[in-house]
Amino acid sequence: MSNKNIVWHDHHVSKEERAKIKDQKSCILWFTGLSGSGKSTIANAVESKLFELNKHTYLLDGDNVRMGLNKGLGFSDEDRIENIRRIGEVSKLFVYAGTIVLTAFISPFQEDRDQVRTLVEEDEFIEVFIDTPLEVCESRDPKGLYEKARKGEIANFTGISSPYEAPVKPEIHIVNDKISIEDVTQHIIDYLKDRGYLHA
Ligand code: ADX
Repeated sequence: MSNKNIVWHDHHVSKEERAKIKDQKSCILWFTGLSGSGKSTIANAVESKLFELNKHTYLLDGDNVRMGLNKGLGFSDEDRIENIRRIGEVSKLFVYAGTIVLTAFISPFQEDRDQVRTLVEEDEFIEVFIDTPLEVCESRDPKGLYEKARKGEIANFTGISSPYEAPVKPEIHIVNDKISIEDVTQHIIDYLKDRGYLHA
C-alpha cells in the first residue's frame, strides 16, 4: 500500500562515494536457475574470489533468506513473487551501500526478474543464468527434494509441478553441465573485470 505522507530522503553520502572507497562499482549479480542447478555453489565461489580481490560483497541465498526475512512465504506463485520482490528491494539497498551483491534464488518468473532490474541502473543488474538440464539437477538431487516432488510429497516444485521461465537475454549464460566451478567462476570474474566493476 502506498502512503502519500512518506517522502524519500536522499542520503548525504552518495552510492558512488560509498563504492569509491571500496574501489569497485556496485551491482547485483542475479543468479537464476533450477533447484540443484549450482547457483549457490557458483555464487559462493565467485564471492570467495571477489573477497580475495579485496572486494566488498554480500551473498543473499534462497534457503537462508527464507529462514529469516522471508520466513512465512511458501512456494505458491504469489509467495514466490513476494519473495523476489523483497530480495530485489534488499539488493537495491546493498547497491546503494556500494556493495557487490550476489543473489542465489530460483526466481522462476521472467517478469519478476525484470521488475528487480528496473529498481537499479541499467548496468547495475547482471542476470546470470545457471542453465543446468532438469535431468542433471534431478540426478544430483542434493537435498532429496526432487525425489519427494516426484512422489507428490512437495507441491509446486519448480521444474516438476511449477514452471521455470529461462531468461530471455541474460548478461551471462552458463551451461553448467560439463564445466568446472573454477572455469565458471573465472568467466564471471572476467566479465566484471572487463566491464570495470572491480575498480571505482
Ligand atoms: S523462489 O522460486 O522463490 O526463487 P527460492 O530460491 O527462494 O525459490 O527457494 C528455493 C529453495 O527452496 C530450493 O532450492 C529448495 O531447497 C527449497 N524448496 C522447497 N520447496 C520448494 C518448491 N516447491 N519448489 C522449489 N524449491 C523448493
